[in-house]
Amino acid sequence: MNETSATPAPPRQHRAHVTGWGRYAPSHVLTNADLEKIVDTNDEWIVSRTGIRERRVAAADETTASMGAVAGLRAIRTAGLEPDDIDLILLATLTPDYWMPSTAALVKEAIGNTKATAFDVMAACSGFVYGFATAQAYIQAGLAKHVLVIGAELLTRFLDYTDRSTCILFGDGAGAVVLSASDEPGGALGIEMTTEPQGAYMIWLPAGGSKAPPSAGTISRGEHYVRMEGNQTYRFATKTMATTALESIRRSGLDPTDVDLFIPHQANIRIIEAVAKGLDLPMDKMFINLDKYGNTSAASVPIALAEAVNEGRVKIGDNVTIVAFGAGFTSGAVTIEWTADPARGLLGDAAVKPEDVTVRLPVDWDSVDPIPDALAAIMNRPGSLDVPLDDVAPGEPEPAPAEVHA
Ligand code: UT7
Repeated sequence: MNETSATPAPPRQHRAHVTGWGRYAPSHVLTNADLEKIVDTNDEWIVSRTGIRERRVAAADETTASMGAVAGLRAIRTAGLEPDDIDLILLATLTPDYWMPSTAALVKEAIGNTKATAFDVMAACSGFVYGFATAQAYIQAGLAKHVLVIGAELLTRFLDYTDRSTCILFGDGAGAVVLSASDEPGGALGIEMTTEPQGAYMIWLPAGGSKAPPSAGTISRGEHYVRMEGNQTYRFATKTMATTALESIRRSGLDPTDVDLFIPHQANIRIIEAVAKGLDLPMDKMFINLDKYGNTSAASVPIALAEAVNEGRVKIGDNVTIVAFGAGFTSGAVTIEWTADPARGLLGDAAVKPEDVTVRLPVDWDSVDPIPDALAAIMNRPGSLDVPLDDVAPGEPEPAPAEVHA
């Protein structure tokens, strides 16, 4: 055998096509007028400086995992797949249910998948795009056939409702896509991702990690809430969103004018306007839904993507660029040649009712009301807790009543 024939052939490179998409937003709406009641702000300031009019707030019985599971299952149904067809689950979040296990592991069980590897991706608001790019790499390498990528966030439980510069920006929700291996042309094309640690403390959550474990002191100083240098983050975002998108488009062999629709991270309308200007494109090429949801961090791009497709803004053959920036500082963009029938999204939505998706809860765990005090009155909830957190899911051993009520 000569040297050439002994050399193993390089593995075949598959393409990653978006075959499914889905989203979930909690039903409770928090308007700018609601926020006026709890912090020194006003609708005019919020709309003119950010474009946000309202955002969603998760109910007491909802978590990042429960929202991610609904969006993920909808994406699987849109793709015409069964949960066990998925062999990798990536969940991007900065607001996991717990530090461990991963929220992806909880979602895997909730959607009824028994086969997938599941893990979380931590890259703040760029997390979904990082997860998408990771899924694309797994598929191209032949390591996965169908990957579920979820972006899910429950930010309203990590905000300081006395800090008007942050609490007006963020909301809750989840979005997801299924990426499937195919040898057909199209699908995900050029990727660009950046990480610039000099921005590490521009958006951060100081306490709860190994540097500052939670204590009465960290709580009394409000170090368990999101902190942000808004102006510097704004400057980074306007620059990096345009350059990151441009590099992804260039790596796809395209020009910005070849892109039919941009799905930018929904942080601030002024940032998106600056990106459009930087790329010399009209605003009607930028999909916007931040007026309805605010900034949902890692969930913002997949919610916007699913909504854009379901609203008929994307057709087969279109080039779509998803682009995000976030804490880290991170940024990421992927350009996609769309190949799926857009009409399938409505089937996926209709097939999955949120009340049919259950995330198993721990036994022997005291109920806590997770709704922040500042929001509880506005949400006008009777009683302190809508759903007891010590409800036991089917299959768990029943705890003794004395343990539950101790
Ligand atoms: O996913 C990444 C998340 N982060 C971001 O996307 C943040 C990017 N940055 C931004 O979007 C903007 O910087 C903000 C929306 C956060 C702030 O807008 P700005 O135009 O940069 O305002 P500013 O911070 O320069 O503040 C201007 C004024 C200040 O008052 P004075 O000092 O001029 O009297 C603030 O105290 O606006 C005041 N202000 C507010 N007023 C009413 C700040 N927040 C509010 C508020 N309501 N909610």
